Amino acid sequence: MSEIPKSLVRRTEWPTSVSRPVVTPLQPSVVYASPDPDALDAQYADASGFTYAREGHPNAAVLAQKIDMLEGATGGIITGSGMSAIGAVFLGCLKAGDHVLGGDQLYGRTLRLMTQDLPKFGIETSLADPTDVVAMRAAVRPNTKMIVVEVVSNPTIRVADMPAIVALAHEIGALLVVDNTFTTPRSYRPFDHGADIIVHSVTKLLAGHSDATLGYIAARDPDLRTAINDANVTWGLTPSPFDCWLAERGLHSFELRFDRAQDNAAKLANALAQTKGVKRVIYPTRPDHPDHNRAVSLLNGRGGNMFSLELTGGREAANAFTRAASEIAFAPTLGDVGTTLSHPASSSHRGLTPEARGALGISEGFFRVSVGIEDADLLIAEMTAAAQATVS
Ligand SMILES: Cc1ncc(COP(=O)(O)O)c(C=O)c1O
Repeated sequence: MSEIPKSLVRRTEWPTSVSRPVVTPLQPSVVYASPDPDALDAQYADASGFTYAREGHPNAAVLAQKIDMLEGATGGIITGSGMSAIGAVFLGCLKAGDHVLGGDQLYGRTLRLMTQDLPKFGIETSLADPTDVVAMRAAVRPNTKMIVVEVVSNPTIRVADMPAIVALAHEIGALLVVDNTFTTPRSYRPFDHGADIIVHSVTKLLAGHSDATLGYIAARDPDLRTAINDANVTWGLTPSPFDCWLAERGLHSFELRFDRAQDNAAKLANALAQTKGVKRVIYPTRPDHPDHNRAVSLLNGRGGNMFSLELTGGREAANAFTRAASEIAFAPTLGDVGTTLSHPASSSHRGLTPEARGALGISEGFFRVSVGIEDADLLIAEMTAAAQATVS
């Protein structure tokens, strides 16, 4: 009898091995086959295993577990970007008639989402300075359902008054959402301080290599977790397995990278503060930082990998600076292994009038620096030379 012909489209058996791979496998499958309808029913009923990648997949689950470990969370949710994490939190927790209070220097797209998009859905929003709890309290309304803050502001590197904001949120019964992208759980763990929800742009320091766009959400309350996860899945904000795989690999070195980058940032900020061509440097643990004492007590005594600097010159000096620092990527991101420079006046804050930028202290000579893991002496040599080139 001749053999039944095989089809190339049918699955082949995965070769068995008594040894196991040391690297997390990448599973790109969009769908998962079940043995029979009873098994599929049971799987949906207790949300076990995987059925369809938009609903969850192993690479997202592995990544979520690792970030959960860092944040002291359980049941973390991975999304397709930092912005989709923020979007899923809003979609999962808010309804028309609610009010959201946000820090007035949140990430630009978060500000846009709050000021332009949420109002279209009947959700009220307002912004206030998170370094000033009196201003935050004054912005509270009877229907305030949520407070959203970043611990360190972008790009002015101000440190929010987190103890007072946590107390305010608890007092008024609002959910406190902390975008922990800048600080990372190595500097600040929001759940340890009383926050209800944590979000991350995993794209940045956690993944660390500028090759994956992802977000993360942790919610303390299991019912909120379910609501946020439903929003993530229903609105299709979910992540690609490959991005999750890359980010999980990036996480292996996160603690080492972040510690090295923090050391480098402190050294570089101090060196630049004394360099001709630099008007001021803003780094949380420097004694001249406006929130110095708060920064030291909140951020584990260290200042993170981000600082900002203002050149004495304007746009012309800014152009000369990026050209002279040609080995340092002038790119609007943060948290890469390599140092990057961003210029808010021509990127994140280009939509503001010069007056509005001026009120925030963002001039044409203002740069945000995301410090990487290069050799500190090399960074100091490159960046001090670039600053000096703006006045020579
Ligand atoms: C603090 C903060 N939150 C959220 C985001 C959005 O993240 P993503 O670009 O991954 O959507 C960013 C991006 O720069 C950010 O800096």
